[in-house]
Amino acid sequence: MEQTPAAPRERRKIIFSAIQPTGVFTLGNYIGAVRNWPPLQKDYDCLYCVADLHAITVRQDPATLRRNTLEAYALLMACGLDPEKSILFIQSHNPDHAQGAWVLNCYTQFGELSRMTQFKDKSARYADNINAGLFTYPTLMAADILLYQTNFVPVGEDQRQHLEITRDIAGRFNGVYGPTLTVPEAFIPKAEKGARIMSLQDPTRKMSKSDPNPKGLVSILDEPGVILKKFRSAVTDSEARVAAGPGKEGIANLMGIYSVFTGKDFAAIQEEFAGKGYGDFKTAVGETVIQALEPVQRRYKELMADKAYLEDCYRRGAQQAARLSHRTLEKMYKRVGFLHA
Ligand code: TRP
Repeated sequence: MEQTPAAPRERRKIIFSAIQPTGVFTLGNYIGAVRNWPPLQKDYDCLYCVADLHAITVRQDPATLRRNTLEAYALLMACGLDPEKSILFIQSHNPDHAQGAWVLNCYTQFGELSRMTQFKDKSARYADNINAGLFTYPTLMAADILLYQTNFVPVGEDQRQHLEITRDIAGRFNGVYGPTLTVPEAFIPKAEKGARIMSLQDPTRKMSKSDPNPKGLVSILDEPGVILKKFRSAVTDSEARVAAGPGKEGIANLMGIYSVFTGKDFAAIQEEFAGKGYGDFKTAVGETVIQALEPVQRRYKELMADKAYLEDCYRRGAQQAARLSHRTLEKMYKRVGFLHA
């Protein structure tokens, strides 16, 4: 990273990530991503935003988008992100993102955007609305990241290619104008490795918000009774032996979830349930999940009951974010030759 001579030596590394406001996170999002973020607040300067600008690349109902945005923001906080420690904001509240994205658009090639797998997937899925925003989605994401001189981006596998293009864009801009933008790296917290949560109804597919079978996914706001029912009807196998192995993806998935919340490894879990049926095991997993989510659900309810506090948090977050992004945007403007306003 390029450091200006004036930068204090103890400056902490910067982490940036964002989530789209497209509905409540699943247990998979929670285990694989969001749960790992709060501990980072101790050692890094973290910024997290709700990516509402990205959300409108597919058609949204305005009232639903508004509600989902506030809910996503409250969920981040309920999962342990603390507005006193991190900068938590809503993407559209900081206009620098749109402005930065415009500049970066001009340093991004048509060809490279055309090769993005997410663009190809989404333009097939939403064939009647292949809008320019869907195409330039990666340059907005690059702006999100680069405006904060981000060092690390915690992202899942599906966002890898977006991070790669962000690195390419930053490198290209720096190549033309000299060091301006920090080239970010993917960040995979240790705990995240192996914690890929699969659908409870089809353990060969990732648990997803858009699972066609709602019994396949657990939302982190599901009521305890609902959670228990979903675990009890999880697809397993006919062997009745709590162990991982070929053809036992369903059980392995449940063991993975149980392991995350109890800290027990697979051998210990196998021992704990030796001689017991799947019914007992599924109930135990369900109850463990209920217990783990209880504080998140409680905090979420408290936050949603105090809109004034949430408003205060996201306004302050946007101001803090803008203060940082503005420095980078000004540098970029200067580099490309915009006359000082
Ligand atoms: N595209 C990401 C997703 O759908 C969300 C996102 C937007 C993001 N901007 C970002 C993630 C910047 C990491 C960094 O999951």
